Order: sequence, then C-alpha cells, then structure tokens
Amino acid sequence: SRKIIIDTDPGQDDAVAILLALASPELEVLGLTCVAGNVPLPLTTRNARVVCELAGRRDMPVFAGCDAPLRRKLVTAEHVHGKTGLDGCDLPEPTMPLQDRHAVDFVIETLRSEPAGTVTLCPLGPLTNIATAFNRAPDIIEKVREIVLMGGAYFEVGNITPAAEFNIYVDPEAAEIVVKSGCDIVMMPLDVTHQVLTTPARVTAIRAIGTPVASVVCGWLDFFERFDVEKYGATGAPLHDPCVIAYLLRPDLFEGRFVNVEIETQSDLTLGMTVADWWHVTDRPANATFIGKVDAEGFFALLTDRLARL
Ligand code: BDR
Ligand code: CA
Repeated sequence: SRKIIIDTDPGQDDAVAILLALASPELEVLGLTCVAGNVPLPLTTRNARVVCELAGRRDMPVFAGCDAPLRRKLVTAEHVHGKTGLDGCDLPEPTMPLQDRHAVDFVIETLRSEPAGTVTLCPLGPLTNIATAFNRAPDIIEKVREIVLMGGAYFEVGNITPAAEFNIYVDPEAAEIVVKSGCDIVMMPLDVTHQVLTTPARVTAIRAIGTPVASVVCGWLDFFERFDVEKYGATGAPLHDPCVIAYLLRPDLFEGRFVNVEIETQSDLTLGMTVADWWHVTDRPANATFIGKVDAEGFFALLTDRLARL
C-alpha cells in the first residue's frame, strides 16, 4: 500500500478526505499533520482527533504544526466551516493524545527514514507545514514520491477573494516554495472540486449506508452545504479535499494538464492567485499537473463505497 502523510486543517471536507483515506486499504496513513487554516491550530488538532476517533483509529499519530502562515496573519474560514471548523454534528471531545513532536519534525524525520520515493504528501490546507519542512531540510525534497494537494483555481478563479482560492491565499509564500520545489506535484484546484457537488441524491446515498459514520458525515455535509446554497444557490457543496485522496485511489477518474503554475505573492488585488499556463502560451517550464476534470459519479460511487466500510 502507498504511504501518505495528510497535512490538514479540518474542515468538514478535510474530515471526509481523512475518512476516505482511513477506509482505503490501498493507503497507509503514516500520520496526520495539522496546520492553521480553516480555524486556528488548537481547533484543527482537535478536529483531526475527532475524526480519528470517529473512525475507530485512536492509534493514528496526530501532530500539531505551524500556527500561522510564514509571513502573514492567519485568515480563517468560520463563515464556511462554523465556529469549531467542524460544525454540523455534536461529537465528543477527543481523548486520544496529540503527539509531542512538531508536525514539521515528523514530516522531516519520516521522509529521511523511509526509503526515498515512497512517501506521498497530501496537503489539504495552507502549505505552511510543508514549506517549513522544505526550508529547514532541503534534503527531503528529492525523497518525496509525489505531492497531491488541494489548492488553486484557474477558470473558476477564487473563493476567498475574486482571484484566489483559500489554501493558497492564506499562505502564498509557502505555496510558492512548494510549487518551485521541483517535486512531482498534482494540484486539485476549484476547477475540479466544483465538479463534485453534494447533491441531495448523493447525500441520500451516503445516509442510506446507515452507520454512525455515515450519519455524522451527512450532518457535516448539511452544515457545509448551507454556505454554498445560500451564497450561490448551488445544488450542493464542493467536496474539495476528498479529491486528493480519490485521485490516489482512482487517478483514472481525473484529467489534467502538466503546466507551469506560478503563485502571485506581491499584488494586493490578486494575492494567492495561481497563474496556470493552461494553453502553454509562455515558455516557463511545467512544474505541476493541474487537474481540470473529474468523473463526479465515479467519485461519489467510490466515496460512498469506502465510507460504508467504516
Ligand atoms: C479549501 O479551503 C478550505 O476551506 C477547504 O477545507 C479546502 O481545503 C477550499 O478552498
Ligand atoms: Ca482543507
């Protein structure tokens, strides 16, 4: 099975991504590293443990990472995810421990100790932890098998500003370090995540699983959805972060292009914009596979099947 580290700021969609990974025997989750993002770090570390306990995985190592972006003040998204970051279902406070080691140390030590080219990084939040690890230990960069991350937007432009997607906007300097690192990178931008909407029929199929996990997931999705429905009148919420895990399980469901992606770090107006050279109109070298399309029915069939195993 494929070894992964999930770097996360849960978030209802992060939570569903974590559950999808924990339910999938093709993946070996080495640990969850938490970062400040949707909500401040004390809540993302809490929420990650809530999810592990829900999945019956009290043994999963969960690490606290960076509590603020590299050079900027933290911007959070309670307007989307609620006060706790995981509103929509009342779950018990977690009692499993948080590891003593810092998330960045865990990432560095794991990449150094595992055979080169075997560990995949799955960032689902701002890229602060990963960039800090790369800055501090550049020797680990060539050991990474692949980075599959949720972040960015091209045709779908922004969700936190007119020009930028949340994860990249929160820490654009970190995102720049990651996209310039030379690692193999696959990016799941809003262009693809806005294709996997939690329509009533899809949520009904998850609810029909009938397990406690399924009912918690539906509680989260109902809450998460109200934001998009109120704002855009959409037929459901985009399941951003689970796209990362689904891609590892079923890359055939996705289509993208290997292009040049640059991050805007200077302009106030377009800060955090991911400028993807989709049409190859520059000679800037390609550095990331930018996903543009997903088979949404296949995605939800996979998700529903896997959630039923928990
Ligand atoms: C991203 O931002 C967060 O709110 C979600 O968890 C997702 O990672 C979408 O822009
Ligand atoms: Ca997230």
